[in-house]
Amino acid sequence: MRKILVTGANGQLGSEFRKLSQSGDFDFIFTDVDELDITDVHACAAYFEQARPHFVINCAAYTAVDKAESDKKLAWDINVEAVKNLVLSSALCGSYLIQISTDYVFSGKSSVPYGERDLVDPRSEYGKSKAAAEVEALRYDRSLVIRTSWLYSTFGNNFVKTMIKLGKERESLNVIFDQTGTPTYAEDLAAAILHIVDKISANSRDFVGGIFHYSNEGVCSWYDFACAVMKLNGLNCKVYPIETKDYPTPAKRPEYGVLNKAKIKSTYGIDISHWYSSLERMIAALNTVITN
Ligand SMILES: NC(=O)c1ccc[n+]([C@@H]2O[C@H](COP(=O)([O-])OP(=O)(O)OC[C@H]3O[C@@H](n4cnc5c(N)ncnc54)[C@H](OP(=O)(O)O)[C@@H]3O)[C@@H](O)[C@H]2O)c1
Repeated sequence: MRKILVTGANGQLGSEFRKLSQSGDFDFIFTDVDELDITDVHACAAYFEQARPHFVINCAAYTAVDKAESDKKLAWDINVEAVKNLVLSSALCGSYLIQISTDYVFSGKSSVPYGERDLVDPRSEYGKSKAAAEVEALRYDRSLVIRTSWLYSTFGNNFVKTMIKLGKERESLNVIFDQTGTPTYAEDLAAAILHIVDKISANSRDFVGGIFHYSNEGVCSWYDFACAVMKLNGLNCKVYPIETKDYPTPAKRPEYGVLNKAKIKSTYGIDISHWYSSLERMIAALNTVITN
C-alpha cells in the first residue's frame, strides 16, 4: 500500500486528510510539530529514512498572516526553510512532494482570474514567504505546488466559524466588500489532492509537476461570503459592507485573488464544486458535529 506522510496534520487541511484517511486506500502517517518539526533538518532526514513515504503532503505552515509582519523569522523558518528540508528528505526517498501555497503570492491587482504562469508579486510577509517556498519546492522534479485561497473547514479556526460565532452574539457586523476571491472548503481540496495521488500511484507516467491552482468555483467578496454564512445558519445578524480602508490590518491582502483552475481540471481530471454548495455541505457537517 502507498504511504502518505501528512505534515502539519493538526491544522485545517491536515485534519481533513485524517477524516478522508478512513477510506483505507492509503497508508497514512500523520505528524504535526510534536512528532516531526519540519524546521529541523536532521529530524526530517531521520523520519523519512525510517518512514520512507511515497508521497508527502505538506500542510504545515505559519498561517498567522498579520503576525507574520512582525514575526518574520519564524514565518520564514516554517514556510521556507522547512520546505528546503522536505525537499532534501523527499529526494533521499524519491517521494513525491505536494506543497500547499496561496493566492497571497499575487499582488491582487488583476481583474481576471490568475493563471499559474502569472507573475507573483506578494504584498505581505506571509505571501513573500509562501512565494519563496514555491521556488524551493519547484527545485525538486517530483514536486507539485497547489495554490489555494480562503480555506475553511469544520476543523480549526477560520472565517466561517468566526462569522457564525459573531452572528450569534451580535445584531450587526461590518465586513469588507472590496476584496474578491473564492472560498475553498478544505475537504474538497483534500479530496482533490487524494485524487491526484491516486492517479500518480496507479501510473507514475501520469505525474505532472509544477504549479496548479485549486479553489472552489465562483467568485465573491468577504461580504457576500459572510451573508451566505448567516443565511445558511438562519442567523438574523445584519451584515454591512465596508471598504478595506475602514478595516486596517498589519498585512496587505490581495484585492483580487481569484484563481483560474483550468490546468488542474484538464491535467488531473478534477471536478470542482461551486463555493456556495461546498459551504452548504460544511455547515451541514458542522451542525451534525454540534448536535451529536
Ligand atoms: N488558511 C487559509 O485561508 C489558507 C489560504 C490559502 C492557502 N493556505 C495554505 O494551506 C495550507 C494549510 O493551511 P491550514 O489553514 O490548514 O493551516 P493551519 O490550520 O494553520 O495548520 C498548519 C499546521 O502546521 C503546524 N505547524 C506549524 N509549524 C510546524 C512545524 N515546524 N512542523 C510541523 N508542523 C507545524 C501548525 O501547528 P500550530 O498550530 O501548533 O502552529 C498547524 O497544525 C498552508 O500551506 C497555508 O499556507 C491557507
